[in-house]
Amino acid sequence: MTQTTRIILDCDPGVDDALAITFAHGHPGIELAGITTVAGNVGLDKTTANALAVASFIGAAGTPVTAGCPAPLLRPALDARDVHGESGLGGAVLPEPQAGPASGHAVDFIIGTLAAAPGEITLVATGPLTNIALALRREPRLAGWVRDFVIMGGSAGRGNTTPAAEFNIWADPEAAAVVFGAGWQVTMIGLDVTLRTRPEAPVLSRMRELGALGSDLLLPALGQYKSVEGDPAVHDVCAVAYVAEPGLFGLVPARVSVETRGQWTSGMTVTDFAGAEPNALVAMEIDTGAFWDLVLGTYSQVAAAMR
Ligand code: BDR
Ligand code: CA
Repeated sequence: MTQTTRIILDCDPGVDDALAITFAHGHPGIELAGITTVAGNVGLDKTTANALAVASFIGAAGTPVTAGCPAPLLRPALDARDVHGESGLGGAVLPEPQAGPASGHAVDFIIGTLAAAPGEITLVATGPLTNIALALRREPRLAGWVRDFVIMGGSAGRGNTTPAAEFNIWADPEAAAVVFGAGWQVTMIGLDVTLRTRPEAPVLSRMRELGALGSDLLLPALGQYKSVEGDPAVHDVCAVAYVAEPGLFGLVPARVSVETRGQWTSGMTVTDFAGAEPNALVAMEIDTGAFWDLVLGTYSQVAAAMR
């Protein structure tokens, strides 16, 4: 019998977040216990509306979507509309969702859900880390309650929003500093691997065979998803794919410190592979071919269930 991993996905959809939600819903080894939203790629109203619309469209309307923080801990909210489009979903226009957001705040949902099942649920964050930092500040035992904690964020090398910083860390570096300093192990799925997941022609062509999932969500979303470094990558899908198939990734222990003060380096994840007391496992290798086989296979199952 396949063992399933329950996850909470904290996200800011976002084209690649939408693709990550779809993967999490469709993979038989993952049970999506809840989606929480945060301001990031677009404002909180839009990330929440997008999460609801995607969940409803793919047949996951029963998954609770709980809204969280509308702005970073200390800084003004700066979005990534230039990358993800005005709506946050690129060129995808989805039907009105069947359900509204769950009542309550994402921080309470995260604390309450993990408290009820300590050691059982993996927390995956694919947006700025504001909700997670606040949850840790409110309930430091959270760090011991997760089965695993996985983020898409950071880089051991260069950034994508500035030369030094990746978007999710750059958007709320103070939150990221709290999260990396919480005494738990952060599995950091950063640009070192995610930039190797750009959907090229053969991948797009397989998406064309996925009926409405391909024609109404995946392809129009990706079609208007821009990136400064050329074809954009499906960063956030990597974090959820890691939960499903950790063997696709090569991880190295490291001490990761988040720069919050540097004039040119704010949001940098300074990654010391030789440092004492590692606080992170940093993904440095990915089997890209196997990754796409896994992702497209999972999308086929979602598409079949939608027919
Ligand atoms: C990350 O930033 C966002 O724009 C994407 O959704 C992803 O989470 C990549 O740097
Ligand atoms: Ca994201």
